[in-house]
Amino acid sequence: MNIIKAEYVVSNAKASQCPDTDAPEYAFIGRSNVGKSSLINMLTRRKALAKTSQTPGKTLLINHFNINNGEWFIVDLPGYGYAARGKKQRGEIDRIIKDYVLNRAQMTCLFVLVDSRHEPQKIDLEFIQWLGENAVPFAIVFTKADKLGSNALESKVEAYKKVLLDTWEELPPIFATSSQTYAGRDTLLSYIEELNKLYYQIPADNDE
Ligand code: GTP
Ligand code: MG
Repeated sequence: MNIIKAEYVVSNAKASQCPDTDAPEYAFIGRSNVGKSSLINMLTRRKALAKTSQTPGKTLLINHFNINNGEWFIVDLPGYGYAARGKKQRGEIDRIIKDYVLNRAQMTCLFVLVDSRHEPQKIDLEFIQWLGENAVPFAIVFTKADKLGSNALESKVEAYKKVLLDTWEELPPIFATSSQTYAGRDTLLSYIEELNKLYYQIPADNDE
């Protein structure tokens, strides 16, 4: 899919204040520092559309980005589980995330980002479990794939699937990406294009 235009729109702390649109939207979530904002910049091929940082806890609000003049939207969410943030701020961020995820009707898929180098983390598994309980459509995206060789990546993904299959009958869609090498970009954008077409009758472009 071709991204011809990508623009920052607005940042909000509440789903009810998010832009009044009826276009599909795709949100990116995961632990602080997992690479959400970097992935958004990679997908849109913009260097600094979403603000990235080496220090965790950079993104604190629901950030909307308009893709192709309102055809669809990307949403950058704050990271969950950043211990150094203090209980009050963590509680506030959890509230923002839950409010958005449960109330934003146009959210077509939530991409849950997981660092491909790590063993399955309790906090991610619990979040995924919560998505299941609330029937939220989601997919898993392994990030920072450039930090692993292809065999190591494959075995990490396989190990993760095994853990998921302990509680799930079916696996969600799974992607592996690198914001440095652009690995996984076409596959992820094709998936978004497929959902746009399926649920919103947005025609696929035929350039790629
Ligand atoms: P918060 O907004 O704080 O929750 O973090 P985030 O998930 O948006 O992470 P961000 O995109 O800011 O990236 C965090 C750090 O990881 C930065 O130093 C990035 O350069 C690095 N990073 C992100 N993606 C990749 C990747 O694919 N490969 C490598 N090697 N580094 C990455
Ligand atoms: Mg961020």
